[in-house]
Amino acid sequence: MSTIIELKNVEKTFKVKGRTIQALKNINLQIGEGEIFGIIGYSGAGKSTLVRLINGLEKPTSGEVIVQGENVSELRGAPLRKFRQKIGMIFQGFNLLWSRTAKENIELPLELVKGDKATRETRAIELLDLVGLKDRADNYPNALSGGEKQRVGVARALSNNPCILLSDEATSALDPKTTREILALIKDIRDRLKVTVVIITHEMSVVREVCDKVAVMQAGEIVETGTVADVFNNPQADITKHFLGGGSDE
Ligand SMILES: Nc1ncnc2c1ncn2[C@@H]1O[C@H](COP(=O)(O)OP(=O)(O)OP(=O)(O)O)[C@@H](O)[C@H]1O
Ligand SMILES: [Mg+2]
Repeated sequence: MSTIIELKNVEKTFKVKGRTIQALKNINLQIGEGEIFGIIGYSGAGKSTLVRLINGLEKPTSGEVIVQGENVSELRGAPLRKFRQKIGMIFQGFNLLWSRTAKENIELPLELVKGDKATRETRAIELLDLVGLKDRADNYPNALSGGEKQRVGVARALSNNPCILLSDEATSALDPKTTREILALIKDIRDRLKVTVVIITHEMSVVREVCDKVAVMQAGEIVETGTVADVFNNPQADITKHFLGGGSDE
């Protein structure tokens, strides 16, 4: 399997009022094409910072982030915008526009690239069908359940045919049954569209349900990584054992 995302010796620090916060320390990570890769850790572990490095929203303080052979930190302007179209994002809070229908929300990223209205509409309907919401095209978000809103979020993330889907706690606001449905949808999309998926979570059940591989993060570091089967059968780090024991970060 070829590597699609690679982080080499990545460090990320933030300066806040003269204080230095080290969000990521010596991160080395390889994600294979078509994998569903989980990143699990407590609040503040650095998970979202890692995701923002992968999609080019942040640059590493040192080290390299390579996505599809491109050094993301070297991209600026138009090449960076083009690169970012290759990556779809879904979020805990859905990030939908309340004044737009489901279909119009999905069309939004398409409006930023060239193309006519009819093409955008056809694509949005096709995506609504893919996520099982064809009959809800003209509903506004406030008429949709949490699970349905996230389906719209998934459809919107796929609108530009990305090769990578990043999910930052996308199921954290959903109940267990709806969480399983959304995870099944993500798996189905990986199988059908061959996208690579990175799932950020603080729940081991999410990792168990869909991930092929997992990295466990603690205080900015990856403390353990491997196939889900290996990590579940033979956890090494105390924090991994804690997560497996049903521990959560609450
Ligand atoms: N823009 C920023 N400026 C300053 N500090 C930041 C910034 N972004 C993140 N941090 C800090 O970096 C550390 C890691 O934050 P991050 O958001 O990546 O954690 P997380 O694992 O996603 O947590 P959560 O599970 O709560 O979302 C935290 O100490 C956070 O305060
Ligand atoms: Mg986060």
